Amino acid sequence: MRKIAVCPGSFDPITYGHLDIIERASTLFDKVIVLVSSNAHKQPSFSVEERLDMIHAVISRWDNVVVDCWDGLLADYLKERQATAIVKGLRAVTDFEYEFSMALANKKLYGGAETVFLTTSQENMYLSSSLVKEIARFGGDISTFVPPEIHGVIKDRLKK
Ligand code: PNS
Repeated sequence: MRKIAVCPGSFDPITYGHLDIIERASTLFDKVIVLVSSNAHKQPSFSVEERLDMIHAVISRWDNVVVDCWDGLLADYLKERQATAIVKGLRAVTDFEYEFSMALANKKLYGGAETVFLTTSQENMYLSSSLVKEIARFGGDISTFVPPEIHGVIKDRLKK
């Protein structure tokens, strides 16, 4: 059976931190679906279409990675796609409590998938989409945080 993993997130926008997790997941699973999902606690800066386009532009080097979007419960998507894992990156202990409760809830809602946490690479420990947006808003250099393919979209949208 092909092992399908889902990497869910807001990806508002996708960063090198996300890409590191996606790349490592692509070596562990047969197929990885990068899933743009809604986070009830966040108001995104980019539309779902913009986020899908940005992800498309930066995942083409991996032939077992695809992108999709879902505006419902992650557990329902996993079930529909027969996915066996949710892959998430953990940056620090501060991420843990929230991620832990989501992992437990997802397991209750759909027992067919395990949540797999990958520790973030050291160079991405401080990196977040919010940080990238704040730097872009003030015209700062985002080149070490996001790939060149999406610099233009981010700068155009966020510059004051
Ligand atoms: O990148 P984020 O914002 O930390 O990702 C959080 C996300 C989108 C993965 C999470 O909010 C989610 O799974 N949303 C889908 C709706 C859902 O299933 N919520 C219940 C989670 S237990």
